[in-house]
Amino acid sequence: MRLPTKAVIPVAGLGTRFLPATKAMPKEMLPLVDKPVIQYVVEEAVRSGLSDILFITGRDKYALENHFDSAEALESRLEEKGDDEKLALVQDATNLGNIHYVRQGGAKGLGHAVLAAKSFVGHESFAVLLGDDVLEESSALLERMMQVHQATGSSVVALVEVPKSEIHKYGSIKPAGDFDGDTIKVADFVEKPKADVAPSNYAVIGRYILRPELFDIIAKLEPGAGDEIQLTDALSISARDASLAGGVVGVIFNGERYDAGDKLEYIKATVRLASKRADLGPELNTWLKEFSKEI
Ligand code: UTP
Repeated sequence: MRLPTKAVIPVAGLGTRFLPATKAMPKEMLPLVDKPVIQYVVEEAVRSGLSDILFITGRDKYALENHFDSAEALESRLEEKGDDEKLALVQDATNLGNIHYVRQGGAKGLGHAVLAAKSFVGHESFAVLLGDDVLEESSALLERMMQVHQATGSSVVALVEVPKSEIHKYGSIKPAGDFDGDTIKVADFVEKPKADVAPSNYAVIGRYILRPELFDIIAKLEPGAGDEIQLTDALSISARDASLAGGVVGVIFNGERYDAGDKLEYIKATVRLASKRADLGPELNTWLKEFSKEI
């Protein structure tokens, strides 16, 4: 198995949990401190060796495309002023990887979004990073998932252990056995299960290494949960019968992660990231201690 070089980042969702902010602006462009959520995700892909990036976009995603393009007027203004620091901040996003775009053609589910990447990906395995899922900056999760893919030939999903009371927000796995180090073979998936029927406490998060055979499986799927074409339904088919697309292995992730598409998680992410920053942290942390006495 060759190491993947292509990353697919779906950003065509409607972001309804974040209305009204997402009425005319993609949720992936909301800032975490001073950088849009999507830039953290693209930086992670590039850092992990995935230099070809395909965004699956939808309507009203122009702000996102503009963010990764050059901004001539702004750049010349900063150049004239000799403000190299801000100029670098503006140019950072433009210099990330080779970025491509394709439209999903309606938010019909994550599986449907991934299928839109078929001609870009061809016959190679590829990574999928959800555009609203942010991992701590030192995370080597994707590299580890690529190693596991190389060693097993299976598709790989990232897992976190969550309390039973939260499993209904995620796809959950039915394990095929015990953990071998940080990996576990997956027997099946259940999308957003109720706590009492969840097959485990292991929840799927927004990082995947997928085999290209999954495209054919997705193409034949009927709409599933939420009347959407679900990526987990395709992964279930491969997990149940490994002769279809090589089966599925999970890799556990123990680091910090934020679902920036969820309001409370977004607020926590903003505070945590700011509190670690040299320019903001000291003052913010003092204020947070004072504030915590008020509430
Ligand atoms: P979510 O389910 O979190 O996104 O999908 P959503 O549908 O935009 O959010 P809510 O629930 O309405 O608030 C995870 C990722 O998959 C993308 C989203 O943009 C998000 O980054 N996605 C989802 C698509 O690209 N297309 C889809 O049809 C669905």
